[in-house]
Amino acid sequence: MIFASSRLIARRFGLDDLADFVAMRNDPEVARYQSWERYSEDDGRRFIAELSGLEPGDPGWFQFALEERQTGIFAGDCGLNILADDPRLAQIGYSIARPHWNQGLATEAVRALADFAFTAFGLHRITASVDPRNAASCRVLEKAGFVKEAHFRQSQWFKDEWADDAVYARLRG
Ligand SMILES: CC(C)(COP(=O)(O)OP(=O)(O)OC[C@H]1O[C@@H](n2cnc3c(N)ncnc32)[C@H](O)[C@@H]1OP(=O)(O)O)[C@@H](O)C(=O)NCCC(=O)NCCS
Repeated sequence: MIFASSRLIARRFGLDDLADFVAMRNDPEVARYQSWERYSEDDGRRFIAELSGLEPGDPGWFQFALEERQTGIFAGDCGLNILADDPRLAQIGYSIARPHWNQGLATEAVRALADFAFTAFGLHRITASVDPRNAASCRVLEKAGFVKEAHFRQSQWFKDEWADDAVYARLRG
């Protein structure tokens, strides 16, 4: 376990997560506002292999597997990207597998990740970049104490159309 919340444990990914992880990423509802369209088993294997050589707290992205405390079932993932230029700054990302949506788990994971990362890595500011059409994700960030700071209009070419980008941030303390 790396950090935890009342219902979730955040830990390293292992090969046992492969099937659940690939299934989650291949769900079109999960992929809608994410960078991928389709996600193969090979993609999943590469993802897990690359993570095995990384440490949380190192510059760059580290992804944590999320499992339900009571059942041990894979529930999703969350990631932390510590910026190489200034390691007091970081970004986060997260996905929850669809059967677990709307139970407050993403909010719990984001809160716990931010609390953990501020303390463990001495961060000053954590940001999240969200497509504003992703209302559930915007709500998660607000519930987890993030404040909307910017809304960039049609600022990225995303899945064959221009998309807006909202930036949320939480400061230490
Ligand atoms: C976004 C996501 C992480 C939310 O996970 P979750 O565990 O269901 O989130 P929570 O239960 O903690 O909170 C969801 C909130 O959004 C609300 N919500 C859900 N669907 C909504 C919708 N279509 N419109 C508006 N609000 C919505 C819920 O009511 C809840 O708010 P409430 O507690 O005030 O009622 C999940 O839907 C997901 O993994 N999506 C795909 C990946 C993704 O988009 N990740 C974020 C990229 S920035």
